[in-house]
Amino acid sequence: MDKFKIVGGTPLSGEAHVSGSKNSALPALAACLLTDEPVTLRRIPEVKDILTMKKLLSHTGARVCNKDGRVHVDARSLDRPEAPYEVVKTMRASSLVLGPLVARTGCARVSMPGGCAIGARPINLHVSALEELGATIEQTHGYVEARAPEGLLAANIHFDRITVTGTEDVLMAAVLARGETQIRNAAREPEVKDLADLLTKMGARIEGAGTSIIKVQGVERLHGAEHTIIPDRIEAGTFVLAGVISKGDLSVTGCVPDHIAALTFKLRQAGAEVDEIGADTMRVRFRKRLKATGVTTEEYPGFATDLQAQYMAAMTLAEGTCVVTETIFENRFMHAQELTRMGANIRIEGRQAIVTGENELTGAQVIASDLRGSASLILAALAARGESTIDRVYHMDRGYERMERKLAALGANIQRVRS
Ligand code: EPU
Repeated sequence: MDKFKIVGGTPLSGEAHVSGSKNSALPALAACLLTDEPVTLRRIPEVKDILTMKKLLSHTGARVCNKDGRVHVDARSLDRPEAPYEVVKTMRASSLVLGPLVARTGCARVSMPGGCAIGARPINLHVSALEELGATIEQTHGYVEARAPEGLLAANIHFDRITVTGTEDVLMAAVLARGETQIRNAAREPEVKDLADLLTKMGARIEGAGTSIIKVQGVERLHGAEHTIIPDRIEAGTFVLAGVISKGDLSVTGCVPDHIAALTFKLRQAGAEVDEIGADTMRVRFRKRLKATGVTTEEYPGFATDLQAQYMAAMTLAEGTCVVTETIFENRFMHAQELTRMGANIRIEGRQAIVTGENELTGAQVIASDLRGSASLILAALAARGESTIDRVYHMDRGYERMERKLAALGANIQRVRS
């Protein structure tokens, strides 16, 4: 298992270029299963989860190839409409193929994802919405089996709680269902809107994506298309926070500033200098120590749960005490214990972390336990005095493209130790 060795204390400077969004690329790849014509996707990040999704598409019978920074998917023949356990156990987003497979082939067999480090993560909402669309669903031997031999029928769907991949899964099913489907209490994340943009290019008729009510007029078939994935807002936010915590002067380029507005708003409240210096560039410059400022995670456009861990790292060095509240996942504070090993003062009370800023963090040996938690430990290590070792960085490799190379180019003293 690879580790990172980081010697902290260097203010980062220069330009960090943001890659394509992992959480947008995953549903976009799944959407390719909806048509028998080739789809070309640009700006697909080279991260582990994407490799897994490509493997999954190949398993179903689709042909996937990479050429000139593009991914081409040809799902003309889909002879195995299933997502086996071996794939799903390493990537929960595999459940995103459930909707497209049942809509296109009339049957799908997808292994049920188990819980993961950050929470139980059930897919009951995906399942009940697909049942509303007329699929018959059985759950046996750890698999969800969906059937709709006569095709899906439009329905009015109301999600009991907002789910990002649930909205995406059902949207992909609804585009081929007969009649008009309404999805209420839909997720408003930019990744949902990006998926709808791709589906629209493929011939789908969708209104309202990016709002909480999405209307879909089902069509008989979809066709091939070309699409460029949106920039990764979580990576962008992570770099902004890297600039802040390392007391650097950093430009984050190729991003959509609006997608991280909840973060930049909070950082400005805390006294950080974060500016939009162009349509796709944010600049963060160190001026003074931050004031402790609490956040509560919420669905988009609220403060992203995927930035909570990294923001908490920044607050460990702020002046005063603040409360970080996690409302989306029940167990997303595992980084807190590891940050404490680096000298942070954090107390967990249920869904709240009470963080009191210290004057400094000190390098230590720590273990990453999930994707965003690993980013939080890297940020803390960049600011800490002395050397840190971060174990299990495979978590980070799931979702950040060439992270250590990008950080090294900004002046960070970071090294991957292979083992
Ligand atoms: N939930 C249910 N039932 C369901 C689906 C969700 O109870 O059928 C609950 C979840 O347990 C959770 C809440 O609803 O408590 C929200 O979960 P959601 O379904 O929105 O999460 P997701 O779609 O599985 C995506 C991202 C996550 C991100 C969340 C929240 C992808 C591939 N994953 O997950 O990204 O944290 O939305 O924004 O888009 C990450 O990139 O590190 C990551 C975990």
